[in-house]
Amino acid sequence: METKTCNCAIVFVIISLVLASEALATSDDEEIKSYIVYMDKSMKPDHFSLHQHWYASMIDRVSGSKSDPAAMLYMYDTVMHGFSAKLTSTGAQAMENIDGCLAVFPDSLSRLHTTRTPDFLGLNSIDGLWPQSHYGEDVIVGLLDTGVWPESKSFSDEGLTSRVPAKWKGECEVGSDFNASHCNNKLIGARYFVKGYEAMYGRIDKKEDYRSPRDADGHGTHTSSTAAGSEVPGASLFGFARGTARGIATKARLAVYKVCWAVTCVNSDVLAGMEAAVADGVDLLSLSLGIVDDVPYYHDTIAIGALGAIEKGVFVSCSAGNAGPYAIFNTAPWITTVGASTIDREFPAPVVLGNGKSYMGSSLDKDKTLAKEQLPLVYGKTASSKQYANFCIDGSLDPDMVRGKIVLCDLEEGGRIEKGLVVRRAGGAGMILASQFKEEDYSATYSNLLPATMVDLKAGEYIKAYMNTTRNPLATIKTEGLTVIGKARAPVVIAFSSRGPNRVAPEILKPDLVAPGVNILAAWTGHTSPTGLISDKRRVDFNIISGTSMSCPHVAGIAALIRSAHPAWTPAAIKSALMTSSALFDNRKSPISDSITALPADALAMGAGHVNPNAALDPGLVYDLGIDDYVSFLCSLNYTAKHIQILTKNATSCPKLRSRPGDLNYPSFSVVFKPRSLVRVTRRTVTNVGGAPSVYEMAVESPENVNVIVEPRTLAFTKQNEKATYTVRFESKIASDNKSKRHRGFGQILWKCVKGGTQVVRSPVAIAWKDK
Ligand SMILES: *[C@@H]1O[C@H](CO)[C@@H](O)[C@H](O)[C@H]1NC(C)=O
Ligand SMILES: *[C@@H]1O[C@H](CO)[C@@H](O)[C@H](O)[C@H]1NC(C)=O
Ligand SMILES: *[C@@H]1O[C@H](CO)[C@@H](O)[C@H](O)[C@H]1NC(C)=O
Ligand SMILES: *[C@@H]1O[C@H](CO)[C@@H](O)[C@H](O)[C@H]1NC(C)=O
Ligand SMILES: *[C@@H]1O[C@H](CO)[C@@H](O)[C@H](O)[C@H]1NC(C)=O
Repeated sequence: METKTCNCAIVFVIISLVLASEALATSDDEEIKSYIVYMDKSMKPDHFSLHQHWYASMIDRVSGSKSDPAAMLYMYDTVMHGFSAKLTSTGAQAMENIDGCLAVFPDSLSRLHTTRTPDFLGLNSIDGLWPQSHYGEDVIVGLLDTGVWPESKSFSDEGLTSRVPAKWKGECEVGSDFNASHCNNKLIGARYFVKGYEAMYGRIDKKEDYRSPRDADGHGTHTSSTAAGSEVPGASLFGFARGTARGIATKARLAVYKVCWAVTCVNSDVLAGMEAAVADGVDLLSLSLGIVDDVPYYHDTIAIGALGAIEKGVFVSCSAGNAGPYAIFNTAPWITTVGASTIDREFPAPVVLGNGKSYMGSSLDKDKTLAKEQLPLVYGKTASSKQYANFCIDGSLDPDMVRGKIVLCDLEEGGRIEKGLVVRRAGGAGMILASQFKEEDYSATYSNLLPATMVDLKAGEYIKAYMNTTRNPLATIKTEGLTVIGKARAPVVIAFSSRGPNRVAPEILKPDLVAPGVNILAAWTGHTSPTGLISDKRRVDFNIISGTSMSCPHVAGIAALIRSAHPAWTPAAIKSALMTSSALFDNRKSPISDSITALPADALAMGAGHVNPNAALDPGLVYDLGIDDYVSFLCSLNYTAKHIQILTKNATSCPKLRSRPGDLNYPSFSVVFKPRSLVRVTRRTVTNVGGAPSVYEMAVESPENVNVIVEPRTLAFTKQNEKATYTVRFESKIASDNKSKRHRGFGQILWKCVKGGTQVVRSPVAIAWKDK
């Protein structure tokens, strides 16, 4: 009796403690944040008729008294299974213990990776990709970005049929300054996803953005018109780059998903956009954005959404990031990861010094006020005692030192418009930006505030030396508004383009390829500045901007044309075609160079090479991949069953004998040697998508200090779609901790068609030696 009472008391105490801690958990001082909850859908208890009831009950259960009907942000069911919701951190922890919950991750951010191009790519030639693919009329490109400016002529549907593919289920959502009449037979869908952003930052303010698919920034209008804009004769920015502006797939249909707000993208919104796009029936997705951190693929919302898209046959193209020479993003093997290169268009605006010497600069400014006048020249660093004044950062310049002068500023990544503003506020009359990268940085400046030009590192050093040795240094900036086409060496891999190695899966080479991303002319919102920083009232219907953000929709557009020409190809086959046919030489017939090193670009800078649309149409052989291959790949990364299920939505048991990540049937090779593993053997299977019968012969360029042995040396095909497998053995000739070793090596494996065609199917090989 006594004992029992005692037990009851203990039980009571425990219950009160639990209640107390639950009360604590939901007390007002605990911050509520958004989380993405990944679920095993098959675990739904029978008494819930729908998954959304189950998910809502979970939110109620962990939220206690604080339960809020608006706590659920999105439910996901197409590209992944689960939901996002506003929870306390205690609530989120409790959620993880509920049966069927795979993981709960805090919501996080992604970042945007900020017309002559089609001619430069050779799309217009007689038997080019354009005519053969009917300009992509039967294909739908989904763009996830900052929205769209529907009035732009690039989205006119003139000449397009109303035969929108029957599978299309999307819509034109109504919102601020946007209604269904803004869609047409070109822009067939426009939606917006703002719940994650508003949960984090509060309701969208009219001054910040339009609460609708309308683009306040310009980035999304630019990328969507690059991928699939209609032809617009006479497009230019203040007369620069005048010509016909057109997207790559000029007749493809566009569906725009606005997931970035005031230039920030919240991942629960991005995932909701991917989900909606795939459910709506897009054929391709283009995302010029990437998550901010380095995380495993099961924690990377873009990788998760992209695998769901690939499973439904949707091709996914993403930007590599603008963090060159470092930090590549979007590295999952099912994504096509695109770096940036230059085109052969320049905007010359030379600097002439007081001593008569002239240095090439590049500018989109057309303000000629300084073109004839010599003004005093000063270096930001000597115009101030403040730290980082050499970069002319905000508040660093002393007005007494710069008033009426031309100011030289060093240029780090980003922040160009701001520098012009800093110099102008301090009273400067003009600005010279000195790139900190080795070779010419071809991206033109565009300050729009005062005459400005950009020079490369070497010219910057000469100008600084001139200032050091001259008592009264003088300069003129010849901003003359010229556009010069066809003279520049191009393409060059641009300094800002993010480089490999792939930090998440080092045995998958990234980027996959490069495409134009410097000084790209495409549609804009009609306004010069989204930020209100600049009081410039000139209309800007087209704008010239740079970034891997611009490269990504080029590849999406080309993939749309290939899709149109080869409707049965898988996303992996399209990507393989793009990669193995890519170009390695520039318009001077020299190897494509890297603007950081001024040497030929290696595979960590440009992947397989520069996109080569016409060759991609007829690649001969492709390295195909399906969902099962990606599942084996995830097993090879030693991910847990729960982590794999987050990505695949299905329960998977990995085989005991796991393959290596490098065994994925990928169109490129990345080999990592370690001290006790100096031999790697792997296999690849190619599918004949060219003529039949056909015969291919192997050729290898081995990286230095490596033997590459391929067996067999000949592949013969008698039928279309026939497959053949070959083995590759990589042997390091040196120890991995060899102090005199080269850290990296590059080579290639080629299959040359010697009968039944002329294709060369080329795969880059990148080698790394690690000492542990
Ligand atoms: C949609 O917007 C257009 C242009 O702003 C306007 O002319 C039209 O009346 C609107 N239609 C509806 C149904 O609100
Ligand atoms: C200019 O002079 C400063 C100080 O004398 C020196 O540190 C700098 O290296 C010189 N710069 C050049 C480009 O000669
Ligand atoms: C996976 O685990 C195996 C066995 O422990 C190990 O040999 C292999 O290197 C691991 N793979 C990766 C990618 O971590
Ligand atoms: C999951 O299972 C379904 C049904 O078996 C299958 O169709 C689908 O391809 C699988 N998805 C993945 C990613 O494995
Ligand atoms: C180290 O590399 C050099 C050539 O790069 C080679 O001559 C030497 O034998 C190597 N040593 C070992 C232990 O592999």
